[in-house]
Amino acid sequence: MKVTHQPIDNGECLDCHDPHQSPNTNLLVKKGNDLCLTCHDDPLEEGKFKHQAVEGGDCLACHSPHATNFKGLLKESVKATCYECHDDVVGKKKDVHQPVDDGDCTACHAPHAGADKNLLIKPGESLCWECHDNFLEKAKFTHDVVDDCSGCHNPHASDVNELLNKSLPALCTDCHDPKDLARDKGHAKTGNKSCVDCHDPHSGDNVNLLKPAAMKGTAP
Ligand code: HEC
Ligand code: HEC
Ligand code: HEC
Ligand code: HEC
Ligand code: HEC
Ligand code: HEC
Ligand code: HEC
Ligand code: HEC
Ligand code: HEC
Repeated sequence: MKVTHQPIDNGECLDCHDPHQSPNTNLLVKKGNDLCLTCHDDPLEEGKFKHQAVEGGDCLACHSPHATNFKGLLKESVKATCYECHDDVVGKKKDVHQPVDDGDCTACHAPHAGADKNLLIKPGESLCWECHDNFLEKAKFTHDVVDDCSGCHNPHASDVNELLNKSLPALCTDCHDPKDLARDKGHAKTGNKSCVDCHDPHSGDNVNLLKPAAMKGTAP
């Protein structure tokens, strides 16, 4: 096994087992999670939002007491551990966010408890800047609603490219009434052009979030 629990490495079987007798199964000196909490701080104290799997569950649902082949002494990979109870985050959707595809659930979620809802390791957009360049930082203009990344993107997977919650133009016209848009000069001859041929959905250096080509009146 690649990963060994330190007390095992130290040969301290008796930290956990009584050699002769015990009221507990496997001759354990303590029952259930209490055994683990003899040496470990309660991981539920790590944050106000607590994972039900830990709160109502068993450390051994995910961890092995002795040794494993997975980091963090997990019985299986992180992906397999989480999918045991959450097999629906990806489903059959065709566009899967790379860290989710890689099974790196703990890149975004705390496994036990966290300060933010959904057990996220960082709140709101700051989670996304862990891996993506912050395109809002230097922009002159930003879209009013851009802080709410989940308003337009699914963090796990989607049937629409770019992890969008909906395809264009519905994603945009949910908030921008086509009747109002039709009154704008710039929309007189949009033809088959998509909203994002002319507008950056996030931010930009031009008013109306216009892409440089659209500024010149010659959208790509
Ligand atoms: C950190 C606490 C801990 C230490 C240290 C520990 N064990 Fe265990 N052991 C457990 C727990 C918990 C179980 C019950 C596992 C379960 O319920 O799946 C267990 C189960 C067992 C079992 C019965 C089930 C099985 O896996 O075969 C044996 C035998 C065993 N331990 C031997 C040892 C030996 C030998 C050592 C020292 C090299 C040791 N244990 C050290 C916690 C520990
Ligand atoms: C006798 C003390 C002791 C007991 C009891 C104990 N642990 Fe540990 N455990 C340690 C020490 C020491 C380490 C290594 C230092 C650390 O990471 O805190 C460790 C490390 C770990 C790690 C991190 C392993 C890694 O490689 O990252 C996990 C997970 C863990 N223990 C889970 C458990 C679980 C689950 C139980 C209950 C079955 C348990 N421990 C009971 C002492 C203990
Ligand atoms: C739902 C599954 C799950 C349960 C239940 C669970 N853990 Fe974990 N635990 C994890 C995952 C995932 C990691 C991170 C592994 C990695 O990627 O290194 C982890 C890491 C750890 C670590 C090492 C890193 C750290 O946070 O210090 C310890 C110690 C630990 N768990 C103890 C416990 C104890 C004690 C319990 C029971 C009270 C418990 N865990 C219950 C999934 C779980
Ligand atoms: C033993 C079953 C089990 C395992 C394993 C498990 N979970 Fe959960 N998880 C639950 C339950 C039960 C809930 C609460 C009901 C729900 O929201 O589905 C939950 C809720 C969640 C939530 C929502 C929390 C909230 O505040 O609403 C997240 C995020 C989550 N789990 C992530 C993970 C990750 C990441 C892993 C792997 C490290 C994992 N779960 C492994 C059972 C599990
Ligand atoms: C890139 C970051 C990221 C990764 C990686 C990630 N998640 Fe999430 N997850 C989120 C965000 C953000 C939310 C909150 C969504 C919302 O606000 O609607 C969430 C919500 C959840 C929830 C609760 C709501 C729901 O959709 O059921 C579960 C359960 C969950 N994730 C499980 C997982 C599992 C399992 C993995 C690994 C396969 C994983 N996540 C990987 C960012 C991530
Ligand atoms: C109003 C809807 C909307 C919001 C809110 C939004 N996005 Fe997007 N995002 C889009 C659209 C539409 C695309 C596809 C653009 C294209 O096809 O040219 C996209 C593309 C992306 C891409 C891939 C292409 C690129 O530009 O790098 C990333 C990464 C991204 N968004 C991250 C984010 C993050 C992080 C947030 C939150 C800070 C966010 N988005 C908020 C609509 C939105
Ligand atoms: C753990 C790292 C990580 C985090 C955190 C993360 N991403 Fe990503 N994301 C990636 C990687 C890697 C890719 C694929 C390469 C690329 O396009 O940059 C990607 C691609 C994307 C894409 C375009 C890809 C597609 O599948 O069409 C969007 C949109 C996106 N991320 C949005 C987000 C949003 C929104 C958040 C915050 C909720 C976020 N990301 C957080 C790593 C991350
Ligand atoms: C959740 C609602 C919402 C969604 C979805 C949305 N927007 Fe917006 N948008 C707003 C709000 C609010 C404003 C600021 C007030 C206004 O101008 O109507 C705005 C402003 C704009 C502006 C003017 C920016 C400026 O500098 O004044 C453009 C252009 C725009 N949105 C394009 C889009 C495009 C393209 C999409 C789809 C990718 C989209 N919007 C999706 C709510 C939304
Ligand atoms: C051919 C390029 C082009 C396309 C395609 C386009 N726009 Fe525009 N849009 C413009 C220009 C140019 C302006 C500047 C205002 C004007 O000229 O009337 C503008 C202005 C806007 C504004 C700000 C003014 C207002 O009405 O509030 C919004 C919002 C907007 N567009 C949304 C959208 C949406 C949503 C789509 C897709 C359904 C879209 N645009 C498609 C070029 C375009």
